[in-house]
Amino acid sequence: MIAAENLVKEFKVYQRKAGLMGSLSTLFSREHRLVRAVSGVSFEIPSGAKAAYIGANGAGKSTTVKLLTGIMRPTSGRCYVNGLEPYRERRRNAANIGVVFGQRSQLWWDLPVLDSFRILRRIHEIPDAVYRRNMALYRKLLDLDALGNTPVRQLSLGQRMRAEVAASLLHDPKAVFLDEPTVGLDLVLKEAVRELINHVSSELGTTVMLTSHDMGDITAICDQVLVVNRGEVVHQSTMHDLLRTAESRAVIFEYRNGPPTEQAVALVQSRLDGASATVVDSVRIKVEYPAHRWSTREVMSLLIAHFDLIDCFAPEPDLEMVLRRIYTGRADGRRASA
Ligand SMILES: Nc1ncnc2c1ncn2[C@@H]1O[C@H](COP(=O)(O)OP(=O)(O)O)[C@@H](O)[C@H]1O
Ligand SMILES: [Mg+2]
Repeated sequence: MIAAENLVKEFKVYQRKAGLMGSLSTLFSREHRLVRAVSGVSFEIPSGAKAAYIGANGAGKSTTVKLLTGIMRPTSGRCYVNGLEPYRERRRNAANIGVVFGQRSQLWWDLPVLDSFRILRRIHEIPDAVYRRNMALYRKLLDLDALGNTPVRQLSLGQRMRAEVAASLLHDPKAVFLDEPTVGLDLVLKEAVRELINHVSSELGTTVMLTSHDMGDITAICDQVLVVNRGEVVHQSTMHDLLRTAESRAVIFEYRNGPPTEQAVALVQSRLDGASATVVDSVRIKVEYPAHRWSTREVMSLLIAHFDLIDCFAPEPDLEMVLRRIYTGRADGRRASA
């Protein structure tokens, strides 16, 4: 659905020299250096997948999204969205995609949100039934009516982002590109936006490509992960496989009877080499253990032998820690110390 083949985007950055004469000399000499924002990227996001595009600031995420949406043309390499090369067929591509740039508005600044929606309805020739269905959904999930007749420029960032996400999905695009879509939203609104994206993707099979610094967005929405660093894709896998590589596992145990919590902690640490335990409350402890050293089964066996267990569950592995390991290349996810 979305594919990149050796995609490269370079920018010419003109060196500015100090002072007026400096500025004038740059005007004439045009000395520049090249910044490689996207450096030979290849990947494929299958139809219906929800992929996270993750990387530090300046890693090249937004530039990749601009190439895929046809806003920019690549320096070399190719990319395709639903079989089209976006920068060659911008209009046809636009009919297939929705785009949100958290940092920049797609809406008409002086118009109320609902007027922007009416214009989009005409541009995309959205059938009545589709328009009505989607507006009803946005009313329910995003409280869209509350934005009413206020011009977009007077909306708060949170209100505007709600409108942006809705606008990007209005024409039932086959793929949607969301670049930092929850920037500036409070938790309740973030969840509403996540719910909307997941709903649309599961109902219509919409392919999603999401960049976000919000690990909550990524785990709530995405099933595929691409990690970019300095313009290169350094990791691609399913979210499931990525989280499975977490080196450290954690399980929380709740028990009816057993040794007092301090003793329980000591027991775990003495019997499971490399594991650590912490008291959650009077009937629960959290056990963390290195996955390469102990299997969950072994940990369970020890606990069952000493406790009258009534519940246990594994909290989600920490995505942030797993990602840090990819960046630093260290197994424990800690930064190499100086
Ligand atoms: N229009 C531009 N002109 C020059 N350099 C740019 C331009 N757009 C982006 N860059 C540079 O390209 C790199 C990647 O930028 P970007 O794609 O915005 O990263 P991200 O979205 O991952 O933070 C950065 O070093 C950035 O400064
Ligand atoms: Mg960006």
